Amino acid sequence: MKFFTSSILLLASFTSANPVITHSPRQTTPGPYKISNFFASKTHLSGYCSFEFQVTSPTLTTPATCTAYLDSGFSGSWWLASVWPGAGKCDNAAVDWTFYQQQAFDDTPANFSVTIDGVEGRYTIPKEDISVSVNGNSPFDDDVYYSGPRDFEIVEFGN
Ligand SMILES: *[C@@H]1O[C@H](CO)[C@@H](O)[C@H](O)[C@H]1NC(C)=O
Repeated sequence: MKFFTSSILLLASFTSANPVITHSPRQTTPGPYKISNFFASKTHLSGYCSFEFQVTSPTLTTPATCTAYLDSGFSGSWWLASVWPGAGKCDNAAVDWTFYQQQAFDDTPANFSVTIDGVEGRYTIPKEDISVSVNGNSPFDDDVYYSGPRDFEIVEFGN
């Protein structure tokens, strides 16, 4: 009973230690960066790719929504477009992100990164989580899309 009571108190102190602010400069651990609703897909009959996801972190408690709509080029029917630094958009200026998939028929994973307040979180997307459907005569007729888990956590950080 004593243990039960102190657990409740511990839980209560965790809750109150988590004030509703969107940015805390004293935070020491950057992650995890929590990604939700990750979507990446080439638009059918087009070389353009759409990306969208939400991200939160210990310092970013209000989710930021990030998007991109970029041309993957002629050969892009088999690969998702690259998102270079600054090419993706986010509704929070503290957030930037990138996405790179090698344009080759090998098992090289794609790299996805999210930078919050200058701290880059890195995530590897296995090749099998990017699906290709070959539909017809024109390469633009083919579809390529992310088919892995839509919610995941980024726990690897660097600069
Ligand atoms: C992803 O990152 C790894 C490690 O830095 C690198 O070897 C690989 O070539 C990268 N893949 C792409 C598609 O850039």
